[in-house]
Amino acid sequence: MKTRKLGQDLTVSAVGLGCMGMSFAYGAADEQESIRTLHRAVDLGVSFFDTAEVYGPYENEILLGKALKDVRDKVTIATKFGFRIATGKSTSETIVGIDGRPENAKAVAEASLKRLGTDVIDLYYQHRVDPAVPIEETVGAMADLVREGKVRTLGLSEASAATIRRAHAVHPIAAVQSEYSLWTRDPESEVLDTCRELGIGFVPYSPLGRGMLTGAIRTLDDLGENDFRRNLPRFQAENLNANAALVETLAGIAASKSVTAAQLALAWVLHQGDFIVPIPGARKLNHLEQNVAAAGIALSTEDLATLGEVLSPTRVAGKRYSEASLALTNR
Ligand SMILES: NC(=O)c1ccc[n+]([C@@H]2O[C@H](COP(=O)([O-])OP(=O)(O)OC[C@H]3O[C@@H](n4cnc5c(N)ncnc54)[C@H](OP(=O)(O)O)[C@@H]3O)[C@@H](O)[C@H]2O)c1
Repeated sequence: MKTRKLGQDLTVSAVGLGCMGMSFAYGAADEQESIRTLHRAVDLGVSFFDTAEVYGPYENEILLGKALKDVRDKVTIATKFGFRIATGKSTSETIVGIDGRPENAKAVAEASLKRLGTDVIDLYYQHRVDPAVPIEETVGAMADLVREGKVRTLGLSEASAATIRRAHAVHPIAAVQSEYSLWTRDPESEVLDTCRELGIGFVPYSPLGRGMLTGAIRTLDDLGENDFRRNLPRFQAENLNANAALVETLAGIAASKSVTAAQLALAWVLHQGDFIVPIPGARKLNHLEQNVAAAGIALSTEDLATLGEVLSPTRVAGKRYSEASLALTNR
């Protein structure tokens, strides 16, 4: 597996593993299968694992702590704080606000360290920028955690270019994590250039369009009753139909290259810059194996342009989040 750098201090596999779906958002998951997938990822050279306090909530960090205990020194674990969390409810009801207060950044880090069973968090992200707390105060507290040896590097998720600059002036930011894929291009307007300029790594989340770009989701019946994607505009029946037609074209191009649609979608993201490290989510072994192999796919400039056009923002039907969730992003 090739490696890439995130900021000055982190070197990770070119493709990471998003672990959210193993405990959260996408319906029932099989813990034994998740653990097998985590172990196989390590065997395949994946060294970058993504979790968060809110996934579960809490359970995903516990799962990673358990599964990665014996290989802790070989892997980079990223986790996140910053949502106000209500437990015991559905995925959509779990997130009840944002909490970027310095005391929350510190308290969650202590709790995450315990759940992960480790003495240091390799990459600690603020999950959402809190409009009620100046970013300098939040990042100041995160920087204290670095000085105390509890956290190695810092990150932000869904932060605007202006916020990234302000944060980076307080303490070097190693990585910015935001949604980025063939069907979500928002970071192209400013954030990618800002990261490139400041030497910050960029971590695209949902690089497979929450599964849509794999071709596996054609109708709502392909999603379980409690699947969070049912709340997203792009997965509402009419939009889903229109988007499935775009993905069919993607799948056709993939077949002509003897790869899968998922692999082509990941290869496109990987070609957008060597400071970019996607974290596709996979609970299933065969999905993980396919995604890891995407790191070896070469695409020409012409291929990239064609793919960019097939799923251009003007063609995709529906916004990436509900208005309420979009309001939590820092635009
Ligand atoms: N910072 C944030 O706010 C934020 C938000 C969302 C996600 N994330 C992070 O980003 C990670 C990835 O995002 P995501 O999980 O939302 O979406 P994704 O990576 O775009 O898609 C994941 C979905 O695709 C399926 N899949 C994966 N590889 C496949 C393949 N080769 N063929 C067919 N299907 C495949 C998975 O199925 P199986 O699981 O069944 O294998 C899962 O349903 C998350 O795990 C999380 O760590 C961060």
